[in-house]
Amino acid sequence: MKPREWSDRYRSHNTKWDLGQSPEQLVSYIVELAERKKVLIPGCGRGYEIKDFHEASHEVTAIDFSEGAIEASRQVIGDLADKIICDDFFKTPLKEDSFDICYERNFFCAISMDRWKDYGPRIASLLSEAGILIGIFQYGKHEDDGPPFPMTLEDRERYIEPYFLLLHDEFTHSGLSLYNDHAEHWQVWQKR
Ligand SMILES: C[S@@+](CC[C@H](N)C(=O)[O-])C[C@H]1O[C@@H](n2cnc3c(N)ncnc32)[C@H](O)[C@@H]1O
Repeated sequence: MKPREWSDRYRSHNTKWDLGQSPEQLVSYIVELAERKKVLIPGCGRGYEIKDFHEASHEVTAIDFSEGAIEASRQVIGDLADKIICDDFFKTPLKEDSFDICYERNFFCAISMDRWKDYGPRIASLLSEAGILIGIFQYGKHEDDGPPFPMTLEDRERYIEPYFLLLHDEFTHSGLSLYNDHAEHWQVWQKR
């Protein structure tokens, strides 16, 4: 979907993916972080997580290419929406090897399947050597009428595992009907 189509959805409040808060697993994860981290959030949407990381003193850079998402974000996190870069995550200039954590929720399933090959290399290149990818991922059979585009285990093997090692995998359910036919997973991946 193009940025304008995402913006239309935010402006008409047609945002069935929106949880209205950070996932509980992320809240617990942030509590456990001992040091200040540099955090990258691609496809941040309304960006509840920007606030949670920021309030725990972490340095956040978020990216979303939809102006409507950023307007919507301003309504829930105020001036922290200034942390969002309005650009395509795959093209915007960002310093390589500079982030400790990449957090994403339902970004991989929001990009078209022909973009999946770019996901692992892009995130791995931006993370430091000990970098971690965390977030909520959607699994299920391929759907033509997405987003969301859930992935299969074969997709994960092909697009994510060459770049990241799975450290933690937990089944979860957001309660959002959009994802009723998917398996939602909270996962923690270590950069290879
Ligand atoms: C399904 S929404 C998820 C938003 C948010 N992470 C959440 O959990 O509510 C996907 C978001 O990714 C953004 N997005 C999709 N493709 C993008 C791209 N190539 N670069 C930057 N943002 C993108 C959309 O504008 C949208 O806000």
